[in-house]
Amino acid sequence: MSALFTPFKLKGVTLRNRIAVPPMCQYSAIDGVTTEWHQVHYPSIARGGAGLVIVEATGVSPEGRITPGCAGLWNDRQAEGMARIAASIKAAGAVPGIQIGHAGRKASANRPWEGDDHIPEEDPRAWQTLAPSAIAFGGGLPRVPKAMTLDDIARVKADFAAAACRARDAGFEWLELHFAHGYLAQSFFSAYSNQRDDQYGGSFDNRSRFLLETLAAVREVWPEHLSLTARFGVIEYDGKDEETVAESIELVRRMRQGGLDLLNVSINFVIPGGKVPWGTQAFLAPIAERVSREARLPVAAAWCIDDPHTAERVVAGKQLDLVMIGRAHLADPHYPYEIALALGNDKPALALPTPYAYWLSRYMGPGKASAQ
Ligand SMILES: Cc1cc2nc3c(=O)[nH]c(=O)nc-3n(C[C@H](O)[C@H](O)[C@H](O)COP(=O)(O)O)c2cc1C
Repeated sequence: MSALFTPFKLKGVTLRNRIAVPPMCQYSAIDGVTTEWHQVHYPSIARGGAGLVIVEATGVSPEGRITPGCAGLWNDRQAEGMARIAASIKAAGAVPGIQIGHAGRKASANRPWEGDDHIPEEDPRAWQTLAPSAIAFGGGLPRVPKAMTLDDIARVKADFAAAACRARDAGFEWLELHFAHGYLAQSFFSAYSNQRDDQYGGSFDNRSRFLLETLAAVREVWPEHLSLTARFGVIEYDGKDEETVAESIELVRRMRQGGLDLLNVSINFVIPGGKVPWGTQAFLAPIAERVSREARLPVAAAWCIDDPHTAERVVAGKQLDLVMIGRAHLADPHYPYEIALALGNDKPALALPTPYAYWLSRYMGPGKASAQ
């Protein structure tokens, strides 16, 4: 039996297998409200067989969105659309998850296919970006953000808690706090972007404070029997990796003590130009395994784990509890079925939905569509 196709239980939530779809922005929302696109996209992917489908980075406030097309969860209309998505993911047999976040100084950007850069300040669609310090990211994101006041910090933490309440009420069972990828929370932890001289900057404790307080605010409202997770970058690939990984692990330990159930281990992306080893299958798996061992927390990771045998190996070898597979799901929403075929030969661990399986077995042979 394949390790990848064994169930995974976290708190009161059980995934049917160890394949998860990581959050992937669709840039197709209007005023933060999801559209028909999302209502088709998410259930299609969930029907493909993954155990967990995490809905894209969803802004906790208007200025927390990455682009004007990003989803939000600061009002009831947005929550209604999200409730339909959560129900459709669940009806397809997957656990519905959602990532909530604040994009910080990387916000107010054009969609990737419209430039992926900051919207010019004079454009009426642009907005004031926020960050720990008034330091621009650089590259295509040159806008200097506003350094947050203590009131701004308190408001954003409250926005996270309010969005978590809406996610809970919408029926999501898995919450992922976006603490990665150079967005607001990650930029508080990194000395590259945080040069504050108050209690939110400087020492390790101070740079950790925003993340731990945000986690605590969400922990208060997120039910104990559901899964509370975060995505956090533990490595920048800037040549100072041992120091960053070790410091990050200490923060992950504190997150565990603060009530985190699992970490989606990722990359910092706080500065442009890191030397990420793109093209190497599962390059984060050994780092995630170390985080898990030293911080004593279950872990998931994404980034280039789309080879079926690699996905099986990292789960069977206990490097990852969950494998996050992103772009391969965009190319083929039934990718888990392809993995099951590759691993299970003529008896895959996962069946196609019957209305598809019947026709595929009739026209393409039983090998393509054999049931469990
Ligand atoms: C279209 C697209 C949108 C993405 N949006 C998000 C996002 O909303 N939140 C996030 O944490 N990562 C996001 N990512 C990163 C993915 O979650 C994932 O880490 C990445 O695609 C690498 O996994 P893969 O090699 O399996 O595709 C996005 C990636 C893609 C391709």
